[in-house]
Amino acid sequence: MNELDTLVDEAKVAFSKAGTPADLENVKAQYLGKSGRITELMKGMAQLSVEEKKTRGAAVNVAKQAVEAALNARRQALADAELDIQLKAEALDVTLPGRRRQAGGLHPVSRTMERIEQIFGSMGFDVADGPEIESDWYSFTSLNNPPNHPARSMQDTFYVDMKGDDGIPYNLRPHTSPMQVRYAHQHIKKHADLVKAGGTMPEIRVIAPGRTYRVDSDATHSPMFHQCEGLWLGENVSFKDLKVVFTDFCRTFFESDDLVLRFRPSFFPFTEPSAEIDIQFQSGPLAGRWLEVAGSGQVHPQVVRNMGLDPERHIGFAFGMGPDRLTMLRYGVNDLRLFFDGDIRFLRQFQ
Ligand code: PHE
Repeated sequence: MNELDTLVDEAKVAFSKAGTPADLENVKAQYLGKSGRITELMKGMAQLSVEEKKTRGAAVNVAKQAVEAALNARRQALADAELDIQLKAEALDVTLPGRRRQAGGLHPVSRTMERIEQIFGSMGFDVADGPEIESDWYSFTSLNNPPNHPARSMQDTFYVDMKGDDGIPYNLRPHTSPMQVRYAHQHIKKHADLVKAGGTMPEIRVIAPGRTYRVDSDATHSPMFHQCEGLWLGENVSFKDLKVVFTDFCRTFFESDDLVLRFRPSFFPFTEPSAEIDIQFQSGPLAGRWLEVAGSGQVHPQVVRNMGLDPERHIGFAFGMGPDRLTMLRYGVNDLRLFFDGDIRFLRQFQ
């Protein structure tokens, strides 16, 4: 074997030992680089005679081409191997079943809220939203329930570590009733120009659904629960209207005319007279039992005054109902806590 063949064999071995494209390029430099071994052979031919150059040149060229071919083959082999590894790593089994995206659904209490809004909306009630962190004045004092009034203990309230301008801590609203005075203020402001121009302010007719909080927890009470306030204040709105509106609401909500209402005398500082509203189904699984669904009453003159209105002119009623309770009755759920546990097996039943 002549020295050129040996050189070619050495190059092949060296190329095959290069494990990565970068290694291979380094090895290439040893043979084909500026001072590589093949390049040196070419340079060495300068001293040869014309005749010798011909034969020697041809032989060196053959060797050079063999080295280049070996280099290219190795380059291709390394690139193929790399691609192979990549393909294996990114392997995609197209026969695997896809992951189905589960469609969510509305929470049963949200469904009730939407239903309440829709039914009262159809009766001309506006829907208002208010803060859950509320000032002492809106939650209590504006509702004729001043500090130290014994009626404050009707609600075991959560307080927030932040004081209002009056120095009294804010609270997590224990009912939606603060919305009565809040909304009245907004309503008066909204129609101020009209009134200034000699027009009459439209009636206040609103519901205010939302979250409420009390220190209370058992099968029928949760520290966070829902309420929906209702307020209808006009020139000539009476208890009779409350009865009509609420009866209509209940019959539409429960999709049953087989249901009667009872107003049971009660007390709230912000209504006078006050009544609990009970309903009774005349048929079905709940038939015959009186079920409490709301507190209500004629808006107290002091509350009307706190709204900035004249209690001699603006008369009406307010009510506060429990959407959680309505949801339990509608679907036959016996434990309120199920609504807030987030157990998908329970919630899925309402989809
Ligand atoms: N806010 C009262 C409660 O939470 C309910 C109520 C609202 C009563 C409006 C009368 C009028 O118990």
